[in-house]
Amino acid sequence: MKSSLLVLGVSTLGIGASPLYAQDDVKIGFIVKKPEQAWFINEQDAASKLGEQKGFEVVRLSGEDGQQVLSAIDNLNSQGAQGFVICPPDVRLGPAIANRAKQYGMKVVTVDDQFLGADGKPMESVPHLGMSGYKIGQQVGETIAKEMKARGWDPKSVAALRISNNELPTAKARTDGATDALVDAGFVKDNIFDAPQQNTDTSSAFAAASPVLSKNGNFEHWVIYALNEESVLGGVRASEQYGLSPDQVIGVGINGSGAAFAEFSREKPTGFYGTIAVSSTMHGRQSADNLYTWITEDKQPPANTETTGTLMTRDNWEQVREDLGL
Ligand code: GLA
Repeated sequence: MKSSLLVLGVSTLGIGASPLYAQDDVKIGFIVKKPEQAWFINEQDAASKLGEQKGFEVVRLSGEDGQQVLSAIDNLNSQGAQGFVICPPDVRLGPAIANRAKQYGMKVVTVDDQFLGADGKPMESVPHLGMSGYKIGQQVGETIAKEMKARGWDPKSVAALRISNNELPTAKARTDGATDALVDAGFVKDNIFDAPQQNTDTSSAFAAASPVLSKNGNFEHWVIYALNEESVLGGVRASEQYGLSPDQVIGVGINGSGAAFAEFSREKPTGFYGTIAVSSTMHGRQSADNLYTWITEDKQPPANTETTGTLMTRDNWEQVREDLGL
């Protein structure tokens, strides 16, 4: 309420339609699709920390489905927030979310998962910050190929469990990148099996992986990849349940969050070989900062910022964690 009064006040003075706010008045939302996942907890933490440093407030909210997102936006409006960062539960909600924000005069930026417009193309009108999905996927594929060689596996004996989520463009870009890098390195194309997951978490990946493993019992070795490490962990858990031992499995994830730290901290190695770590701290902080600057200085953030990753394994995870400020 406070902010809309301020908007009115400024525009009647004829200063213009884009009011600048005194620092203390700024309040932003940070809405995430999976509030229980370490990646998103860390993003929200980093945004809150930046807010403490710069003197603005960050309201952390869950948006696990469309309804929850819309009520989170209503809630933010009633608290006087001027905008929000969001990782949406479904990228096709983009136009509805952008519309609701517009009604309230709020600014929106996306993080991680970019909105799709009604035409099915990325909504470039909404500034976005996310991983360079294809490149990071290639790093996954290259890592797997290298480790297969190191273990002396005959490509004919190896199948790939590709836990896919083709509805989400960044997920498809990541698994496509991994597939291309593997095939370039000599992986047998016909040995790649899709396990389509309904969500982006461990349990949906586990459910998708199990039947694919049992249907293809003739392979001695498996490699596992997906859009994130939570999903690869679901595949690795399914491989264990199916009876494969860690030395028969190479799983490589993406994120470098608490889920990977917990796995690397286990006493014995598992089939989860590594993960391409990206700084969720940077994603959270930078997206919040972009929005804050937009609100306070009327400077629209870049349309698309793509971030890169670093291989994290059981051997170097603590160092990489430190380097990336995680
Ligand atoms: C998606 C995934 C997350 C994380 C982010 C990173 O949202 O679901 O686990 O990988 O992308 O951008």
